[in-house]
Amino acid sequence: MSHVPVLSKEITHLLNLKRGDIVIDATADGGGHTQILSESVGEKGIVVAIDQDEEMITNLKKKFENHIYRGQIKLACENFKNIDSVLRSLGINEADAVLFDLGMSSLQLENSGRGFSFLKAEEPLLMTYKSNPDSEDLTARDILNNWGDEKIAEIFKNFGEERFYKRIAGAAVAARKEKPFYKVGDLVEVIRKNVPEFYIHQRIHFATRVFQALRIAVNNELEALKEGLKNSFKILKPQGRLLVISFHSLEDRIVKEFLKNEKQAKKATVSASKPIRSSFDEIAKNPRSRSAKLRACVKL
Ligand SMILES: C[S@@+](CC[C@H](N)C(=O)[O-])C[C@H]1O[C@@H](n2cnc3c(N)ncnc32)[C@H](O)[C@@H]1O
Repeated sequence: MSHVPVLSKEITHLLNLKRGDIVIDATADGGGHTQILSESVGEKGIVVAIDQDEEMITNLKKKFENHIYRGQIKLACENFKNIDSVLRSLGINEADAVLFDLGMSSLQLENSGRGFSFLKAEEPLLMTYKSNPDSEDLTARDILNNWGDEKIAEIFKNFGEERFYKRIAGAAVAARKEKPFYKVGDLVEVIRKNVPEFYIHQRIHFATRVFQALRIAVNNELEALKEGLKNSFKILKPQGRLLVISFHSLEDRIVKEFLKNEKQAKKATVSASKPIRSSFDEIAKNPRSRSAKLRACVKL
């Protein structure tokens, strides 16, 4: 299983990287985009590759051993909301471009063993991007076993846009009194029993929205994105490019709003009011790219 980087051609065009540039891949994962960026900036350039997932960083160390040795690729296991301090800790003040490719990857969905996929009934309900969450890190189990039904319903509604949010949250709180949530199958069963029959036979799996909501809540994704955008703008050089690929409307709304504000403040030019989408050709080869939306700006 590998993760195919999305919108590569469009990204290469908009990043407009030159030999010797410094670029940040804020969501490195398996390094699909990192590879493309490193080819663009060449031997004299630098790619700073960030990911919160320690397993990804371990794999990237092996994959890019020679680049790392030559100082062309620098890795950081960090939350991208701290992108400015990551850069400072590497002794770099400014970057020519920053790329965000948000959310989870196919690798995490298929191989992480952390319960991202509703199809993996035996996996633990963690959903953390960190591969070794410590006791202070929030997990999906913590939410399902400890939060009140109103708070759970709120995240299903706000982060999953789940129409049966109240019913499912109420049922989860009742179910945990019998048996606390432990693995993916426990949650899928509660959802299955508490949505109408037609919902189970829709094209989109009936657990999709609840799983998305929990993942966003566990990783505080929307706040991390707001911070990450703000801090990446700080470390961009004038004429520096910021590119963001999002996969659902909650993320895209934040990116759109951020770019609108920077444009209104005359701090950036925004290339297009509509996001760039994948071509039919790309979608045919990589169905995940269907929901990708790319937005970009240039700092003034
Ligand atoms: C969609 S994947 C990126 C795929 C990559 N661009 C490629 O083509 O191989 C998103 C990655 O971002 C990471 N991630 C998500 N939120 C993060 C955050 N706040 N800070 C750092 N990494 C994050 C995830 O762990 C995941 O590995």
